[in-house]
Amino acid sequence: MIDKFEKRVFAGTAIIIMLFIFSLLYARSARKIDLPECLPYNKAYETPKVTRLDSNLYQVYAIAQMWQFQPAEIYIPVGSTVDFYLTSKDVVHGFNIYEKNIHMMAVYGGVNKTTVKFDKPGVYKITCHEYCGIGHQNMQAEVIVNHPAK
Ligand code: CUA
Repeated sequence: MIDKFEKRVFAGTAIIIMLFIFSLLYARSARKIDLPECLPYNKAYETPKVTRLDSNLYQVYAIAQMWQFQPAEIYIPVGSTVDFYLTSKDVVHGFNIYEKNIHMMAVYGGVNKTTVKFDKPGVYKITCHEYCGIGHQNMQAEVIVNHPAK
């Protein structure tokens, strides 16, 4: 025999879990927000690079380490889609692109991936949003979309 109060706790928990699953599915389908993926690790991800795969498709290997991101500046044309592969060389760092609602963790020995489309020109700041030591507040990089000099 289950207590009435206990039943309510079960029902409340079920509702919260369903809301959570619904919000993930909603973000993925209706809002077209790419959910970060965790990939098998490979040493190649430890070398920062920007690769152009197609006229508006880019691949970025981003490295976080105390207290910088590499590459620090990423130049792309407007309308580009970028696959970010993120890892850390030391502690856990954050990877936040505020305007794009991107929040990822950079973890040593792990790779996280997300895809972002930049459909407006401008400078998009990448900042570390996980406290990682004394230089944390200076840890940032930029995605520069349609820079006049390039
Ligand atoms: Cu890296 Cu905070």
